[in-house]
Amino acid sequence: MTRRQIVVTGGSGYIGAITTRMLLNKGYAVTVFDNLERGHREAVDARAQLIVGDLCDRTAIQAALQKIQPQAILHFAAYALVGESMADPMMYYRNNVVGGINLLDAMLQAGCRQIVFSSSCATYGQPEQLPIQETTPQNPTNPYGHSKLIFEQILNWHHKIKGILPTYLRYFNACGADDDLGEEHDPETHLIPNVLKVALGKKPYVEVFGNDYPTPDGTCVRDYIHVMDLANAHVLALEKGREGAFNLGTGSGISVNQVIESCRKITGLPIPVVYSPRRIGDPAELVASCEKARVELGWNPCCSTIDRIVRDAWAYSTRKPLNATTVCG
Ligand code: UFG
Repeated sequence: MTRRQIVVTGGSGYIGAITTRMLLNKGYAVTVFDNLERGHREAVDARAQLIVGDLCDRTAIQAALQKIQPQAILHFAAYALVGESMADPMMYYRNNVVGGINLLDAMLQAGCRQIVFSSSCATYGQPEQLPIQETTPQNPTNPYGHSKLIFEQILNWHHKIKGILPTYLRYFNACGADDDLGEEHDPETHLIPNVLKVALGKKPYVEVFGNDYPTPDGTCVRDYIHVMDLANAHVLALEKGREGAFNLGTGSGISVNQVIESCRKITGLPIPVVYSPRRIGDPAELVASCEKARVELGWNPCCSTIDRIVRDAWAYSTRKPLNATTVCG
């Protein structure tokens, strides 16, 4: 039997590289299409074919899909920093929307129908009701979230008119690691890697942005989801071929203080904290309803307890030799 051919855009990034490895372990043939701008060549599993190319280059993605004739696309490649998108919105629309259009165009030309798209809880903005359902109105509060929403809508019209089969996976707070593949950005803005940097002695203290939110301990509440559970959701989405949106969270919220407490417990280190003013644009609480993914995809986010997440992220941070594989996402 010939193996199913899958193209993974952004397969050198944090979530893309880990999903690529999972697909290969399950017997899929994988081609990674990536410009390596924010990811790492070393993060791409040696069993995958790597095509270095940019989605903003129409001819490059067209040629790749014509040659490979994939059965499906997993589309991770994007810029994903909220603050950066506020400083330079066009950068986000060009990469995330124009790049997406070029990919979709190339899919149509190559006769590829199925796409699993990395969307975000950032498409919801600050919802009035929790937990967030897939039907909760989408009102993004930054160009990053808007760029993801626009591409969902473009895919939706091509579903209705052209028979494209899109699945939109709306990630909540991706975190954790898979052995030697983990999260690393420069500069790092995400909470867990920053807390672990303090544990490693690379930063003097954790700066907690706000402890006056209307939450049980005054710090922001988020829905942290282990990257292995995210990767697994992609495989299920691919195999089930369900059109539509799925929230990828756990349904339970964890506060910033609770994350830090877990990091102290797992590392056995004190981890000093300094409370600072709120970070602009941070909603007090974002928690997903993940019932739809559980019921329709058969997804079970079994790795996503905060202690397991921190344990795996800590193992990645401490074992990582200098210049070893680090991946941005
Ligand atoms: N935080 C700190 N100190 C830090 C870093 C973060 O207190 O050094 C706080 C933030 O203020 C926030 C929480 O920790 O309350 C989580 O912050 P992250 O930056 O880790 O994650 P966000 O919830 O801001 O961002 C996530 C995704 C984005 C997505 C966004 C949608 O990482 O890609 O949710 O709101 F767009």
